[in-house]
Amino acid sequence: MKAAYISQTGPWNQIQYGDLPTPKAGPGEVLVRVEAVAVNPIDTYIRGGIVKFELPFPWVPGCDVCGVVEEIGTNAGRFKKGDRVWGSNQGLFGRQGTFSEYCAIHEQWLYPVAENISSAEAAAGALVGITAHLGLFLHAGLRSGEVVFVNGGTGGVGSSVVQLAKAAGATVITTAGSAEKADQCRALGADHVIQYRNEDIDARFAEITAKTGPIHVWFETLRTPTLDRCVPLMAIRGRIILMAGRDARPEFPVGPFYVKDLRMIGFAMFNASPDEQRAAAEALNAFAASGAWKPQVSRVMPMSQAAEAHRLQEENTLQSSGQLSGKIILMP
Ligand SMILES: NC(=O)c1ccc[n+]([C@@H]2O[C@H](COP(=O)([O-])OP(=O)(O)OC[C@H]3O[C@@H](n4cnc5c(N)ncnc54)[C@H](OP(=O)(O)O)[C@@H]3O)[C@@H](O)[C@H]2O)c1
Repeated sequence: MKAAYISQTGPWNQIQYGDLPTPKAGPGEVLVRVEAVAVNPIDTYIRGGIVKFELPFPWVPGCDVCGVVEEIGTNAGRFKKGDRVWGSNQGLFGRQGTFSEYCAIHEQWLYPVAENISSAEAAAGALVGITAHLGLFLHAGLRSGEVVFVNGGTGGVGSSVVQLAKAAGATVITTAGSAEKADQCRALGADHVIQYRNEDIDARFAEITAKTGPIHVWFETLRTPTLDRCVPLMAIRGRIILMAGRDARPEFPVGPFYVKDLRMIGFAMFNASPDEQRAAAEALNAFAASGAWKPQVSRVMPMSQAAEAHRLQEENTLQSSGQLSGKIILMP
């Protein structure tokens, strides 16, 4: 089969595209014929050796997948041949990833695809959708009527947070890097959008929270959180979610934090158990079927351009180049 792979960690141009043996479905696994995969920032960190796992070289990157079940391994019973499935959590903890024509995946990480969702959309929503759902509901305990803020309302995680929070009955505030992206945020359900590149962010927060009231859930997607801005804007018993910025060392206003009974919750989606991830995935499928959640596809590229896709993802996430409005999808 054709696959994108690396033989050692390093920059994006370490990724080669060529022939690797087609895997077989082992116990508990199914063999998936891949239709679409999505690129995530963590794929680039693992490929670059920044996030360290013991990798079985040649190692195929990629967490997310959508495809068709081709073969069922022993002790696997959730799916049958021909089922369309989506999933995430591959390419982590030394597992092979998804950037290949076929993947052998444990069925515990796979879910059926909602009928109205394309393969590109299903892959685009996988890791980011599960992350948004775990953050909002498992970790922050979002309730209808609360006010949610998320940075980057057209970003991978941000676009799912906006849609899911709105669908759950929250008032949603977000940011965008351009007027066009601000329109996209509103189309996704955002009630208020701050154009972070050309508006006075603090003045806009003051204006918006004068209408909405203080923020109950601050879902921080930036690698450099500004807690001096965030904490004063929070409601009593608000929850601050941190899930990015491994090297960040922000200033932290202790007094304003504890006198509001605030909570700060860090999480990485890959720590969630198979049952927790499946619960999120089933809820996401229901949101997708009702039209409340549409994963955002920004670019579709051939899988042979995986290296270029990693370069683009890094420019977007690490250098805030603003070239994407959603996910990069690769197709074999
Ligand atoms: N802990 C976990 O489980 C987990 C899971 C998924 C992702 N992550 C991490 O979360 C982060 C975001 O991931 P992603 O996939 O959503 O990335 P992404 O698709 O690259 O999105 C980044 C977003 O940040 C916005 N942005 C950039 N600079 C900004 C600024 N100064 N102010 C406000 N917004 C700004 C961008 O807005 P514009 O495009 O409008 O400029 C864009 O929407 C990454 O660091 C990733 O590693 C963690």
